[in-house]
Amino acid sequence: MPSLSSRAAGVQPDFRFRCIVCGDLSDAAGEDFRCAHCGDLLEIVYPQWQEDRPRALDLRSSWRERRLSANPVDLSGVWRFRDLLPALRRPEDIITLHEGNTPLYALPQCARLTGVPRLWAKHQGMNPTGSFKDCGMTVAATFAGQAGFRWVACASTGNTSASMAAYAARGGLRSLVLVPEGKIAWSKLSQALDYGAVTCQLRTDFDGCLTLLQELVRRAPVYQLNSINPFRLEGQKTLALELLEQLDWHAPDHIIVPGGNLGNSSAIGKALLEMRDLGLISRLPKLSVIQAEGANALVRTLREANGKRLVRVQAETRATAIRIGNPASWKKAAHVIGTTGGACEQVSEIEIAQAKAEIGAEGIGCEPASAVTLAGLKKLVRQKFVRPEESVVLVLTGNLLKDPDFTIGFHRGDLFQGSADENGSAVLDPLRRAPMVLDATLDAVMRTLEQAEKS
Ligand code: F0G
Repeated sequence: MPSLSSRAAGVQPDFRFRCIVCGDLSDAAGEDFRCAHCGDLLEIVYPQWQEDRPRALDLRSSWRERRLSANPVDLSGVWRFRDLLPALRRPEDIITLHEGNTPLYALPQCARLTGVPRLWAKHQGMNPTGSFKDCGMTVAATFAGQAGFRWVACASTGNTSASMAAYAARGGLRSLVLVPEGKIAWSKLSQALDYGAVTCQLRTDFDGCLTLLQELVRRAPVYQLNSINPFRLEGQKTLALELLEQLDWHAPDHIIVPGGNLGNSSAIGKALLEMRDLGLISRLPKLSVIQAEGANALVRTLREANGKRLVRVQAETRATAIRIGNPASWKKAAHVIGTTGGACEQVSEIEIAQAKAEIGAEGIGCEPASAVTLAGLKKLVRQKFVRPEESVVLVLTGNLLKDPDFTIGFHRGDLFQGSADENGSAVLDPLRRAPMVLDATLDAVMRTLEQAEKS
């Protein structure tokens, strides 16, 4: 099999790859997107900003103007911010599903529950395939096409595979999906199938799938679309740009994001630092990462190893999207948490389920992995890390419809039955809304309505 390293990523005039550890700069990246010298991860940097710094006022006004444009590139909530993304040789080759442009919702009920009145959710689950992955995928899939690849591939807990399969299909590329057998939500698997991916359910976990993929890309001419790919993170940066634009460039005090493989927190943190350096914001929000207790590699890395080495875990959580024990981007995430002064916390399965139902009761909903943000916020308020007068944005990463089994199991009372946590049912039962089977009579429905009114 010929090596494709020379065309793994096209040489662009306006950006370079920089190793996050040894700082080595290069014009091209190998197929594994790792530093040729020390093997660590790469990030994309824009050296020309030093001589010719984009002006904050100009950026803000052209981003605003593009909102009125009917140009397909401007209709994308990612490419609208293209001034801070790697330049394309042929803009007409962009693969887009009009991603981004996601809502920022106030959360009045959760605000009361947490005692933080200024609380919002940036709902990335409102993207075309239902998760934040689309914002990264439009950029990385476009660069895959531009580099001449026919095949793209990823390891996934479900959302990356759904997104990759969609963007590959739109761009005329073939896609290969590696997912842990029995450990991803059916809706996500169904998306990959419908969008035409070659889907392999491997008898391992996500970490095993990712290890295998890294070997595969060295042997076969496939372009990897995991978040190790720095083009993904450039696209995911736009979440923060769009959020700050929605807040009229007034930075919130806190942004809280779920942590799995830790690409998204890294991307948001990179955007915040770039926005500060370009004068788009005058102060940095604190970026906090929340993990499930059963998949808490970063929490343990920061607590037990002071962020110096990764503490791997055997991951187990019902929030299958973040069931990851060996997160690839842990160094990037640790860096942005440290630089922005954020926190890293963990939450229990019961806390996740409770928070998910509370977000659902706002008429918004999200998948379990996204709900760690609200559960984490409660903890950070108790610790006085977040104070009531501060403003907080939760990043909801996936749509409610991504994991209906969890939601139905929860409301029917099948989840956490006989839970070891004695407080579990006391906390969860009032939130459950089990469906009722009734005789088809007006009487039966009226009685139910009256009972509901009383309760
Ligand atoms: N939330 C959802 C809904 C996700 O799907 C993921 C990751 C995360 C949070 C964590 O983001 O990995 O950037 O820290 N899902 C990946 C996937 C791993 O394959 O779909 P992260």
